[in-house]
Amino acid sequence: MYRVQPKGFATKAIHVGQDPEQWNCMSVIPPISLSTTYKQDGPAEHRGFEYSRSGNPTRNVLERCLAALDNAKFGLTFASGLGATTTVLTMLSTGDHVIVGDDVYGGTNRLIRQVISRMGIDFTFVDPTDLVTFKSAIKVNTKLVWIETPTNPLIKVADIVAISKLCHESGNIIVAVDNTFLTSYFQRPLELGADLVCYSLTKYMNGHTDVVMGGITLNCEKLYNRLKFLQNAAGIIPSPFDCFLVNRSLKTLSIRMEQHHKNSVLVATFLESHEFVEKVLHPSLPSHPQHKIALQQTYGYSGVFSFYIKGKLEHSKAFLRALKIFALAESLGGYESLAELPSVMTHASVPLEDRQKLGINDSLIRLSVGLEDSDDLINDLSCALEVAKNTLT
Ligand SMILES: Cc1ncc(COP(=O)(O)O)c(C=O)c1O
Repeated sequence: MYRVQPKGFATKAIHVGQDPEQWNCMSVIPPISLSTTYKQDGPAEHRGFEYSRSGNPTRNVLERCLAALDNAKFGLTFASGLGATTTVLTMLSTGDHVIVGDDVYGGTNRLIRQVISRMGIDFTFVDPTDLVTFKSAIKVNTKLVWIETPTNPLIKVADIVAISKLCHESGNIIVAVDNTFLTSYFQRPLELGADLVCYSLTKYMNGHTDVVMGGITLNCEKLYNRLKFLQNAAGIIPSPFDCFLVNRSLKTLSIRMEQHHKNSVLVATFLESHEFVEKVLHPSLPSHPQHKIALQQTYGYSGVFSFYIKGKLEHSKAFLRALKIFALAESLGGYESLAELPSVMTHASVPLEDRQKLGINDSLIRLSVGLEDSDDLINDLSCALEVAKNTLT
């Protein structure tokens, strides 16, 4: 059994930051403030807003709501999930060292290897489920630990309590957790000891596959002030219209996540019993290596998980081409079901040697189970597996 979700999440998602009294017109739904600039009462005398990059009323609403969902003091939003990651990494200086989970989103891996490393920042990729290796990777100049849990696409579950304890005992290391896969509904890393929670809000938090955005929640005021400064100084901000859309989507997050959970468990259980499936990687299944940690630190599971099909690249391709309800597409977390082949799609930018070491091969398929009827999804997968099985090599 997963942890029991405390009451109040849906109420916070619907009401925090949304008070109609903040608008002259008493709008129940927060308006979209498109103005790029705000009239001042006197030089440098303004009423909270001066220029829309440094602060925007619609963005404020969303940031307050996001913070409340993680029981955090502060929330910030960015132009994309990678924009949020970039902003965190720009807090570092030349000579600093970062420990990164070895199985993170391909774009995060690329950002660190091909962009941040050029700024003289050292990094080590480590399996976040291996605490001994993790501990030995800590150096005197380690300033940041960046993990995803569950990882992408191998769905390994890292122990946030243990990693945070290790990092805080070893020095002043900031622990950042990318919580994109589970959202604040199913996992709240700050409560488990992490310092920063980062999101691709593009995924479940928005959930309608129509906005690209990133977010950060945190409790430390000093860190918040630094990140808020960088949000404005680097200018990686989202548009007011997108803030309106994500804020609207958060209102249904709890019911969407409950349904993603139900559907994905049914689909994963079906796949695990299928003769043409080698292995299913889903934390709700007792066969998952970190099943117990998942139950201890989370309130449930989302719709994204991976499995190994029996066969080779041509079988994976035949399977993916044969799907009719699952769309063959990158991304995850929307109401619609998606399927993809990480080795040539989302994780193609990860060096081949690393992919081979990790097990991101051509038989690994990642699903994002949506909100359609589970019977239809299972039938779709069943028919496509049949096609793949009958593909000759
Ligand atoms: C776990 C995770 N983190 C971060 C990102 C990057 O987010 P965005 O695409 O919004 O920049 C992604 C994108 O797929 C992701 O899956």
